[in-house]
Amino acid sequence: MNIIRVKDVEQSAEKALEIYQNAVQHGAKVLGLATGSTPIPLYQKLATSQIDFFELVSINLDEYLGLDGEDEQSYRYFMTKHLFQYKPFKHSYVPDGKSEDHEAAIKAYDRIIAEHPIDLQLLGIGRNGHIGFNEPGTPFDSTTHIVNLTQSTVAANARFFEKESDVPTQAISMGIASVMSAKKILLIATGESKAEAVAATINGPITEDVPASILQKHSDVTIIIDEAAASKL
Ligand code: GLP
Repeated sequence: MNIIRVKDVEQSAEKALEIYQNAVQHGAKVLGLATGSTPIPLYQKLATSQIDFFELVSINLDEYLGLDGEDEQSYRYFMTKHLFQYKPFKHSYVPDGKSEDHEAAIKAYDRIIAEHPIDLQLLGIGRNGHIGFNEPGTPFDSTTHIVNLTQSTVAANARFFEKESDVPTQAISMGIASVMSAKKILLIATGESKAEAVAATINGPITEDVPASILQKHSDVTIIIDEAAASKL
């Protein structure tokens, strides 16, 4: 694991931008993207950068079940708002949260990932060590699947909704094996609330109880952490 320690959120976004510039210059064609508040500063920098994604494909990690892409709380909407409206891709895939046939939506997403091997996968991390929406206990060999969100994840994400009862309790997420199939992985963690998950990811045992701990087994992982997120290392 290549650990890059930075001072704060601003520096984490600057470092991450460099990694994106480098990846695109070196011919990356498929970018795996993430939602949550952590990547927003990076997306702001990408939006005003010289980089263009016209020739690239993006594949997002996850989507809430029951929300369609027009819904302001959906991850599709989030991506359009923070990145795609400024930097459109040739094609941007986000799991279909509104499909009537979940099995078909899952299969379709696995096919998309198989047909577009991910060059650089961006990850945030949940306070319990989840990546994408792969909660603790998710098998390491999982591909795209439907997830029941833990109460702590629902509570953590409630800040984006009017009230906690509005937060969907299920999602469709790329699996851990899908994430691990990316050639390169970049995880960004900032803030004190991530310190424990970061310590368990980097120094703890590799266990399905801490989904991100599997990253220790990937051959090309970079983790950018600010001082607060590094405070328990
Ligand atoms: C959600 C997303 C994850 C994200 C996590 C942390 O659960 N599905 O991809 O990493 O939230 O979000 P934040 O960056 O807002 O702390």
